[in-house]
Amino acid sequence: MHKVGVIVGSIRQDSINRKYAAALTKLAQGKLDCRELRIDDLPLFNQDDEASPVPEVVRFKAEVKAADAILFVTPEHNRSIPAAMKNAIDWASRPPSDRSFKGKVAAITGTSKGRISTAVAQQHLRAIVNGHFLALVGSPEVFLNYNDALFDDDDNVLDETTKKHLTTFVDSFARLIDAFSK
Ligand code: FNR
Repeated sequence: MHKVGVIVGSIRQDSINRKYAAALTKLAQGKLDCRELRIDDLPLFNQDDEASPVPEVVRFKAEVKAADAILFVTPEHNRSIPAAMKNAIDWASRPPSDRSFKGKVAAITGTSKGRISTAVAQQHLRAIVNGHFLALVGSPEVFLNYNDALFDDDDNVLDETTKKHLTTFVDSFARLIDAFSK
């Protein structure tokens, strides 16, 4: 089964995006092997350190490389992605001789309680990572409008319409990974 590294853009304990990522992970069971990649212990990116990174960065880059694909689940902070997610992407993208996302495919989603959810953050993220991946899932886009009734405590999706939409998203991602697998 394809291995998917999940990068959640929030580092806070009760993150709704981590909850959403957990629900997607459960929904994808049997299709994709999704594992969250830790980003909250990465130092602030400094180009001076990219040739001799700390062990946390070495671990993160190795985990990215070991995955067949990356799933980004992003909150929206001031109409963009959170600094923690940009920081992780910057580490993964450097140095040019060791680009961790190279040859992989990715999917982007995210949730917020705001009216347009994470639409603007996802557009930014798409522009940021586009040059690093072979391909990104284009359709469907999922700008999940969060509410507490969407998921239960065991990460099941309770709302049937949402479940159908998320299943289509997971299946599109799995098809894209298949298409670009050797
Ligand atoms: C936000 N929030 C937010 N929401 C949104 O829909 N659009 C936005 O531009 C912003 N901007 C923003 C900036 C900052 C600094 C914070 C802390 C929050 C609200 C945000 O969606 C909410 O805090 C979510 O709970 C964040 O996701 P996690 O951390 O729960 O996964």
